[in-house]
Amino acid sequence: MKTKSTNYTIEKANEELQKNAQKVKQSKFWLGYHIAPPAGWLNDPNGLVFYKGEYHAFYQHYPYASQWGPMHWGHAKSKDLIHWEHLPVALAPEYDYEAGGCFSGSAVVSGDGMYLTYTGHNEQRDPKEVQCVAKSTDGIHFEKLAENPVISVPPAHGSPDFRDPKVWMQNDIWNMVVGSSKDGIGKAVLYRSKDLKDWEYTGVMVESDGTQGDMWECPDFFSLSEDVDVLIFSPMNMEGSKTRYMIGKMDQETGKFEAKNSGEIDYGIDFYAPQTFQDDQNRRILISWMNMWKKDMPEQTDGWAGALTIPRELSVENEKLIMKPVEEMKNLRTNQLVSTYEKEIKVADLCLEVEMVVSLDNSNKLGFTLSSEIGESIIVGYDTIEKQIITDRRGMLQGEQDLCQAHYQTENNEITLKAYIDRSSIELFVDGGKLVMTNRFYFKGDNITLSIEGEKSDIQEVSVWELKATM
Ligand code: FRU
Repeated sequence: MKTKSTNYTIEKANEELQKNAQKVKQSKFWLGYHIAPPAGWLNDPNGLVFYKGEYHAFYQHYPYASQWGPMHWGHAKSKDLIHWEHLPVALAPEYDYEAGGCFSGSAVVSGDGMYLTYTGHNEQRDPKEVQCVAKSTDGIHFEKLAENPVISVPPAHGSPDFRDPKVWMQNDIWNMVVGSSKDGIGKAVLYRSKDLKDWEYTGVMVESDGTQGDMWECPDFFSLSEDVDVLIFSPMNMEGSKTRYMIGKMDQETGKFEAKNSGEIDYGIDFYAPQTFQDDQNRRILISWMNMWKKDMPEQTDGWAGALTIPRELSVENEKLIMKPVEEMKNLRTNQLVSTYEKEIKVADLCLEVEMVVSLDNSNKLGFTLSSEIGESIIVGYDTIEKQIITDRRGMLQGEQDLCQAHYQTENNEITLKAYIDRSSIELFVDGGKLVMTNRFYFKGDNITLSIEGEKSDIQEVSVWELKATM
């Protein structure tokens, strides 16, 4: 029997959250339909899984402050991907092998059980990162295996930075990809197991070519069809890039992944550590952290920080990753505010879906601006001169004040913009998910106006719906 070596417990974490949850919800930046922690800090999504008829999302969580601290796993579940219910904290860092935090990981279902695989982190230990498993049969309470850590040293191809296991079943064997690094090269290493406890090292799945970052965090592997495999990861210190996908094929024998194409998953600033899972309809769904390290998070002064993106369904077209809001998002629509062109729309609650079809004929900028009565603004859309999709936060008074842009060109003369806006977040989907841009924003003012950008003759369609706040 291992003895507990920290003062953290699930009970204490839940008490702390209960104390603060009501107050935190009053925050001006509180999100209406996104998963955010009941209070305290959230980063990466973890353990996304469909279990016994329900969707489960876990996340990196520190319940005691709105800053990062020794990581717990927060937990929410849903029947329909749009109404989420908070559950008790699933994991607290208790044992020596995880005293610095239960870091990111994944979930699988085996028989009756849900198994979480995660990284035990402890800077005081050598090696500092090991892989661990916890099991549940009710989807709420988890027991850490006596065999932990199930992988207690990094492989020779890796280094002590060895974290974020993603587990999946393929050809009747469990596979686990873990992020690591060696000599400045980020990599994804592969293990295999028959029972989720005894893991054998297979080798390096794929690694940076020297330009793709020096440490790969949160790798995830999945097949979208017979011959389309996808690897995603969050590279550290990669020039101009934060979250990558590679499309190619994994060799079953060797576990080597051969990439044919690669690209950015989401061009926003506030997007990191995405993870995916498959649901009962065989959809591959991605959810990400909707913030980024070292960025301003004004909600911290309100006792919370961080949120997860809306669920997005993945597909591949012409060796490019396509990411669309899941169908269910339509069910959040309550009232259609606008169905034809109106230059200015006053917005009561900033929980909106905006859809526009625009022609690229006469306008320099197409899209919309959100602005407040004290002169703040954020511009979202397409710059036809620079050929860039943009989210321009330079007109804001708090939070990051930058211009986020991504090159985009269409074959025809038309672009479809779909935006999910939720009080302090905007997720922009271009042309059915060919390009996605996710950002947070923080108004000081209270009265928000949505104005359409572009010559009226270029605006073919506009729809604005109010969305139901479910959280
Ligand atoms: C990514 C990450 C992971 C790690 C976790 C710690 O954002 O750095 O690599 O497991 O966050 O909270």
